[in-house]
Amino acid sequence: MYLPVRLFVSILFLLGSGSGSTIPSITKPSQPLPLIIWHGLGDNYAAEGLAYVGELANETNPGTYVYNIRLDEDPGSDRTATFFGNVTEQLAQVCDTLATHPILSLAPAVNAIGFSQGGQFLRGYVERCNNPPVRNLVTFGSQHNGIADFQACAPTDWLCKGAMALLKVNTWSNYVQSRLVPAQYYRSCNISTGEPTPEYIENSNFLADINNERVLKNTKYAANIAGLNKFVMYLFRDDTTVIPKESGWFAQVTNLTSGVVTPLRNRTIYKEDWLGLKKLDEKGGLVFRETEGGHMKLSDELLIKVFKDFFGPVEEKGKKVEDMLMQDGEGSEEL
Ligand SMILES: *[C@@H]1O[C@H](CO)[C@@H](O)[C@H](O)[C@H]1NC(C)=O
Ligand SMILES: *[C@@H]1O[C@H](CO)[C@@H](O)[C@H](O)[C@H]1NC(C)=O
Ligand SMILES: *[C@@H]1O[C@H](CO)[C@@H](O)[C@H](O)[C@H]1NC(C)=O
Ligand SMILES: *[C@@H]1O[C@H](CO)[C@@H](O)[C@H](O)[C@H]1NC(C)=O
Ligand SMILES: *[C@@H]1O[C@H](CO)[C@@H](O)[C@H](O)[C@H]1NC(C)=O
Repeated sequence: MYLPVRLFVSILFLLGSGSGSTIPSITKPSQPLPLIIWHGLGDNYAAEGLAYVGELANETNPGTYVYNIRLDEDPGSDRTATFFGNVTEQLAQVCDTLATHPILSLAPAVNAIGFSQGGQFLRGYVERCNNPPVRNLVTFGSQHNGIADFQACAPTDWLCKGAMALLKVNTWSNYVQSRLVPAQYYRSCNISTGEPTPEYIENSNFLADINNERVLKNTKYAANIAGLNKFVMYLFRDDTTVIPKESGWFAQVTNLTSGVVTPLRNRTIYKEDWLGLKKLDEKGGLVFRETEGGHMKLSDELLIKVFKDFFGPVEEKGKKVEDMLMQDGEGSEEL
């Protein structure tokens, strides 16, 4: 089964070499917080590119304990779970794993990186569980406002094309919503207004809930997002994999034909603060960043900058966990 699978295969970067597995103490003052990483579609937690990112994080902020989120200890099955499964159940499993993890469960807080779809899933983690709590969340090319289209298949990939046709016709069926991961953050909208369709609001198994788009708002979701220290969203300037790429900044394409985009701060989700994003923004915690290149083109330079800016040591001595979570970093950045 290799179905809708060519959607946004995240590209891995340079290969790293083997790593030690020393477990640093996380209770000392000035120790960097542990870092959790959720990989993207088509990746697995044991991939060398991901190990390289972890090593770079530890090199930049020595003593960083890194945990790659996984749905299965077997890398092949973990990869399969990026395509197939009920995201609600997957997320619940991750919440359980982190809450009982021998090191992470003892940490006062963790930092988090989400690559591509891993970004909206980590945001879901913050909203639904947040135990251990996330201090700074950084997402790269994620689909915070969903996808408006599934990416095209290769011209001769008949299996992919067949699957796509099925997926498109039956997007809102229970069958697809409980099994195909990308369908659970697909967001159909009126092509001239960008407003979500009733089918999406009613049937979306993941995104409509996590974005608090239904009539009944979950106040815990908003409180947890507002409680982050920083929520950093990176957009890839030449991203052609995520449609529309502005989803990485939580923007909404208002008119698919003209490509006119409504930025997050102009949207109702922000103005009425369904998700705590406005509150977070008002304390300087919402950061929009852009980087050159296509989907998931990450350089060492970029990663090191992110690690320095957001994952450096936090002075813990004499501070309560709540203070540390809310501690101010550098100021907010404009679009
Ligand atoms: C982190 O880097 C230190 C050297 O600074 C090394 O001893 C340790 O094994 C590394 N830890 C991990 C988890 O890679
Ligand atoms: C996904 O799993 C949750 C939790 O088990 C369940 O409530 C929900 O109905 C499932 N979604 C679909 C579309 O079946
Ligand atoms: C899209 O929105 C426009 C403007 O509100 C409306 O006239 C049109 O009927 C909508 N299209 C669909 C398919 O709902
Ligand atoms: C959407 O864009 C197209 C192309 O620019 C334009 O013709 C159409 O009027 C726009 N729709 C709305 C509702 O503004
Ligand atoms: C967003 O809103 C501001 C004022 O609230 C307005 O000046 C600006 O034109 C809007 N931008 C877009 C792209 O809608």
